[in-house]
Amino acid sequence: MKSSSEFILKRASVDDVDAIFALLDFFALRKLLLPKTKDQLYRQIRDFRVIYKIGAKDDENEIEDCGQSQNGLMNRSQVESDIKNHSLIACAHLDIFTNQLAEVKSLAVHEAFHGHGLGRMLVEDCENEARSMQIKTIFALTYQIKFFEKIGYHLVDIQSLPEKVFKECVVCPFYGACNENALIKRL
Ligand SMILES: CC(C)(COP(=O)(O)OP(=O)(O)OC[C@H]1O[C@@H](n2cnc3c(N)ncnc32)[C@H](O)[C@@H]1OP(=O)(O)O)[C@@H](O)C(=O)NCCC(=O)NCCS
Repeated sequence: MKSSSEFILKRASVDDVDAIFALLDFFALRKLLLPKTKDQLYRQIRDFRVIYKIGAKDDENEIEDCGQSQNGLMNRSQVESDIKNHSLIACAHLDIFTNQLAEVKSLAVHEAFHGHGLGRMLVEDCENEARSMQIKTIFALTYQIKFFEKIGYHLVDIQSLPEKVFKECVVCPFYGACNENALIKRL
């Protein structure tokens, strides 16, 4: 577990499933992430890490900031209710394909907390775990090219990741019409 005066990063527990589901669903509805069912989340929960906002329930300034969300998808009262009910504000999943390859999945940071370094913190935590298992390559399939480039990833052809293509892409409903980009980092 890592903590600062504002945030705590920890491994997820089954008690986090509802809040992770809500966070992912928010971005899945906006087509930025693939949706996950609660059933899938319970089965994968040991591979998730989450970030909590310390004192989120009292933080009115953060709530005011959310009202200025650029795309207008979230209004102040929605965000206020989210933060009051859940102080879980970010999550990520490390999925291991082989002894050489892992993927960062289901990376999401609550809109009110974008730009605080939390996305980077979660990806670095995934990388550290992969590195501790001597895994040499980590990748993501994403629309967030600039974010991943900023943290040391580079674009590759998805076909250079056959483990992903043949295990998951071919059974995905978006196969053949997927516009996500593959980015990798050597660890
Ligand atoms: C992508 C996402 C996880 C980034 O999280 P974040 O906490 O806002 O990112 P960070 O604050 O850690 O950003 C790290 C760096 O990337 C940059 N960055 C982040 N998002 C960026 C973007 N969309 N465009 C350009 N740069 C970006 C930041 O400015 C920061 O740079 P700096 O170190 O020079 O300050 C967040 O925007 C999100 O949850 N998006 C919706 C869900 C999604 O698309 N997830 C990705 C699925 S793989």
